[in-house]
Amino acid sequence: MSESDHRESEIVQSWSANANAWTRAVREGRIPSRVASTDQAILDAVRRRTRGRVLDAGCGEGWLARALETEGFEVVGIDATEELITRARELGGGVFSTLAFEDIIAAPKAAGGPYEVIVLNFALLGERVAPLLSALGSRLRPDGRLILQTVHPWSGVGEAAYRDGWRVETFDAFGGEFPAPMPWFFRTMEGWLAEISTGGLIVDRLEEPVHPDTGLPASLLLTMRRGARQSRR
Ligand SMILES: C[S@@+](CC[C@H](N)C(=O)[O-])C[C@H]1O[C@@H](n2cnc3c(N)ncnc32)[C@H](O)[C@@H]1O
Repeated sequence: MSESDHRESEIVQSWSANANAWTRAVREGRIPSRVASTDQAILDAVRRRTRGRVLDAGCGEGWLARALETEGFEVVGIDATEELITRARELGGGVFSTLAFEDIIAAPKAAGGPYEVIVLNFALLGERVAPLLSALGSRLRPDGRLILQTVHPWSGVGEAAYRDGWRVETFDAFGGEFPAPMPWFFRTMEGWLAEISTGGLIVDRLEEPVHPDTGLPASLLLTMRRGARQSRR
């Protein structure tokens, strides 16, 4: 197994161990940047699209799927972490199944669709992004959009060199409630745009939601459409 494969499997193992702590943190509104701006930002980005079928890829405990269902979207949520899919099903609002990104890369039709919108909200944590974007792009309607929200590349400036590479999230801000640290792949703005282009997608809109208290970017939010290569698939 390559180092990258090893880290990718550690990511999923960490979510399995952290599923209950994560569910509490989300449902009790204990992630300040989400409450202050990023939840609203992703909802607003999806609301710009016509009501239709949405895939929430890496849906976690399902908050976004539930919110979109109440607004008339028809949502399918998938996630590699069975414990989180179980928690999502408890509250309903969407159809949830256990499915890993790796399964979608191997067989894109497993993701269902075609979809009006595919959302990846803070769910792209590994190194191999282009193959997943390419596979998901093939599950979009011709006029559909893939909407990705992620950690803003500049939020990590000063912590380490500004270059793509693996880092570790310890979840220390939650006072020891999360049992497992999580490896995640930090990506520069240049790195994100290169992966998107390799995945055959085109950025329609780039947004940088700002945290109202700090004035700093809270996330990077990209809305993408299929490029010419994707459209022929
Ligand atoms: C930070 S959480 C975000 C969850 C949700 N999108 C939200 O906004 O609350 C990251 C999610 O990505 C999922 N994930 C990580 N790696 C995955 C993979 N390889 N395939 C599918 N889901 C994955 C995790 O299980 C977890 O639910």
